[in-house]
Amino acid sequence: MIAPRTVNEIIETARIEEVVEDFVTLKRRGSNLVGLCPFHNEKTPSFNVSPSKNIFKCFGCGRGGNAVQFVMEHENFTFPEALRFLAKKYSIEIEEDKPSEEQRAAQLEEESFYILNQFAREFFQKQLFETVPGKTIGLSYFKERGFLEKTIRKFELGFSPAQRDAFTKRALEAQYKIESLKQLGLTTKYDTDFFKNRVIFPIHGLTGKPIAFAGRALSTADKRTPKYINSPESPIYHKSKVLYGLYFARQEIRRQDNCYMVEGYTDVISLHQHGIENVVASSGTSLTPEQIKAVKRYSANITVLYDGDPAGVKAALRGLDLILEEGMNVRLVMLPDNQDPDSYIREVGATEFEDFLKKNAEDFILFKTRILQSDAGSDPIQRSLLVRDVVSSISRIADPIKRSIYVQECSQLLQMEETLLVREINKHIQERLRQKARERPTGQEIETDFRNLREQNEKEVTGGKHEAQQIGLRSPDEYQERDLIRILVCHGHKEVEIEVEDGQEVFSLAEYIFQNIEDIRDNFDHPVYRKILDMYEEAFISGEVLSHQDLLMDEEIEVRNTVMEMLTTPYEYSDWDKNDLPLQTQKHPEENYMEDSFSAIMRLKLKKIKGRIRENQKIIEKVREEGDPTQLEIHVKIHMELLKMRNHITDQFKNVII
Ligand code: CTP
Ligand code: MN
Repeated sequence: MIAPRTVNEIIETARIEEVVEDFVTLKRRGSNLVGLCPFHNEKTPSFNVSPSKNIFKCFGCGRGGNAVQFVMEHENFTFPEALRFLAKKYSIEIEEDKPSEEQRAAQLEEESFYILNQFAREFFQKQLFETVPGKTIGLSYFKERGFLEKTIRKFELGFSPAQRDAFTKRALEAQYKIESLKQLGLTTKYDTDFFKNRVIFPIHGLTGKPIAFAGRALSTADKRTPKYINSPESPIYHKSKVLYGLYFARQEIRRQDNCYMVEGYTDVISLHQHGIENVVASSGTSLTPEQIKAVKRYSANITVLYDGDPAGVKAALRGLDLILEEGMNVRLVMLPDNQDPDSYIREVGATEFEDFLKKNAEDFILFKTRILQSDAGSDPIQRSLLVRDVVSSISRIADPIKRSIYVQECSQLLQMEETLLVREINKHIQERLRQKARERPTGQEIETDFRNLREQNEKEVTGGKHEAQQIGLRSPDEYQERDLIRILVCHGHKEVEIEVEDGQEVFSLAEYIFQNIEDIRDNFDHPVYRKILDMYEEAFISGEVLSHQDLLMDEEIEVRNTVMEMLTTPYEYSDWDKNDLPLQTQKHPEENYMEDSFSAIMRLKLKKIKGRIRENQKIIEKVREEGDPTQLEIHVKIHMELLKMRNHITDQFKNVII
């Protein structure tokens, strides 16, 4: 643990302009410095550095913060890694708070694993470049495949000799322990080398250290030897969390705001060599949520490149629902017959390759609907399976507006009534909600969530002031969210009479609120408010209404404090933006909670919709630039839908006020 004193010293010493200048060329403009933003693609500089405030801010992509946050973003460092980096630059001696015995031991062990893998990587590289079998078998294999030496070195490729224990022996001589070798899977339980007579692809962690290896057989003639073998799971390698190539690709994924997903190691390397660097490989297995989240840190857009036969593609399509669930945009490209990305780019070159991708990338759901439909033909059983499949995919999209656009599109493709699809989709969503309630996050997860949000907000709001200097937490729609949650907490259990078709019915206010926020239910930004909503929802599902007593008993201190504050401080509306809708003054909350909840709901919806309109407009600009007609059509439709919703709300508001 770095001592808080040192943390402060580093933050106070680091000059933003000096830190940024190591990575970005800056020019003076007035009292500020400007340059091309390293976090997104731009031709005119909107990346600003303010020496007096000691912060950076990009007006193009919105990123901003202090020197620590800059290196965290730019180098993808963790907080301590960024501090160490800056400490080194400014020759600040790091004072460590004493870690516990256990922490220390665990840390040492982890470090020793990295060092050992580093040793292995160097061994394999030396074998490749400096031994006769390495050069004649390994290196010539790579060269035959068209890999340049520069590429081979960049990806740190290597070669493992054919002897039974050449590497293990060398490692033992260098005083590494046999147990560690086995834990990393470099040595088998028979004390022999795991990788024999193979070319080696190190798998890099996010800081560029090798965390595992893959070895490819030199000949695939013998069907009994697997083409690739991979290091087993180890304390530093969790296969399901790693994407091959992400270390090399992350900057470019961010810059292009898109990630190409391929299957093979060699595809990644070959594309890089041709100048396409925003590419990662799933390594032949199906994608996991962790892998998708890893990409999501850099871009919300994934283009999956398929080279398989149609049957393989169909199987793979199922895995993609996961990506939708993460709120990412998924596009698909089928490569021409018998080509994989590596062979195809070598045949046609980078320009034509990228043109092909641009022209042929298809929206995932529409692609799936089309391909499954052409298969199903008119067979009724096949068709109902197909509908179920498509419906399941659409139901995974969290955004209700986007969902409704897909319903329109797919109902046309499938020649089916929209209402029919909607009904099916709702069933899926309800089932998943029930599931979610059963797996409500634990206190710990909420806390992490909360911390992440705070860190993120700190970057945006404080422009890099130290955490302690910041009072409270902010998210863009926090005031509007708070008003509604406040009504929910203070009055949610009360009964209200609501006009329904045949007379009046009695609901709890909480129920009324829930029915009216369905479309923005998932868009609450504030983690504590989100958790409170989850708790109400969970209670509903089991047929109860939550009382604030339950909330005050929650394990989460943030929840308890928030609820306590709402219950005890005088009730005032937040200071609405004057240019927006005028608001009724609130003098007697005890009598007017019904009207209040209505205006609070409308107000929040309006805020969310405005945010969505802005966001969507950015996407429209982007896809227009990229010349992607399907996406353009979808997002223009979303825009129309959003405008409709906005007008509807403002109309309702006017009526009430008059
Ligand atoms: N794979 C694996 N084990 C195998 C076969 C494949 O782990 N026995 C994984 C590897 O990550 C491989 C990916 O699946 O990169 C794709 O497999 P394939 O297309 O067969 O290999 P390529 O990467 O195209 O390798 P090459 O071009 O050398 O044939
Ligand atoms: Mn290949």
